[in-house]
Amino acid sequence: MSRIAVIGSNMVDLITYIERMPAQGETLEAPRFAMGCGGKGANQAAAAALLGADVLMISKVGDDAFADTTLANFRRLGIDSRFVERVPGVSSGVAPIFVQADSHNSILIVKGANAHLTGADIDRAEPLLRECRLIVLQLEIEPATVYHAIEFAHRHTIPVLLNPAPAVAALSREHLALLDFLIPNESELALLSGQPVASPEAAARAARSLVAEGVRHVIVTLGEQGALYVGEQGEWHVPGQRVQALDTTGAGDAFIGCFAHHWSEDGDIRRAMQQAVAYSACSVTGLGTQSSYPDAQTFARFKLAHSA
Ligand code: RIB
Repeated sequence: MSRIAVIGSNMVDLITYIERMPAQGETLEAPRFAMGCGGKGANQAAAAALLGADVLMISKVGDDAFADTTLANFRRLGIDSRFVERVPGVSSGVAPIFVQADSHNSILIVKGANAHLTGADIDRAEPLLRECRLIVLQLEIEPATVYHAIEFAHRHTIPVLLNPAPAVAALSREHLALLDFLIPNESELALLSGQPVASPEAAARAARSLVAEGVRHVIVTLGEQGALYVGEQGEWHVPGQRVQALDTTGAGDAFIGCFAHHWSEDGDIRRAMQQAVAYSACSVTGLGTQSSYPDAQTFARFKLAHSA
């Protein structure tokens, strides 16, 4: 079993299921609330661990009860969290999330302790990181820390994957060119490439422009339409899987975690994408973020039930 490192965020998700967003000044009753573990980094680590990966998490929690919840969750999932440190006097990351009846969501994030993760924290974990087959990054920590992690991975020839979420336009092009994998969704791709992405053809064009800048493999997640590969191995599309979606929160993270696990096993990008498309489809059939991620057995049953 190969080891994956996730350097990134953790949050506690405060999820309200709503019929519609309230207008300014309006008070609306919502039918349901749930609290769960989230944060893009932690979600990706959780998905990979649930599928059987050996995961090292590098992150920061705050000085509150949410930190205990997150640390207990990492322990329950068997994630190596010796480099998840508490920051005194600071709140943990939290994410108020609103999920509409059509399964789509709106998310606010408060970074809290996540903003305190630094390059020095990465350097401290060097002996463990050097044993990893892949380093996985997102953008819910400070950009300087992300850049430090990319340089670290490059220096130690460890493959590095960036999920550029939440979307930003200004990412250092110099660091982009050092990435092995860039996995954006359509809106993140549009912002990064500066091109409109309204169709799979447009997504391929925008992805090609990032490959031309030096990224080895760009994988665009297309929601229910699957995922697209553009990179040094050519171009292909993995079709989506039709399911009855209940809650799409964290589906992109489910894709990344599953992809990272499968790719780190055998280096087969197409197979890892096929697994990741199916895994994220399975995740949207359940409520919540990590609470909707299947373990390896449940995922195997889902694939059997959905095989053509
Ligand atoms: O991608 C979904 C995640 O985004 C949620 O878990 C929330 O915490 C935010 O980080």
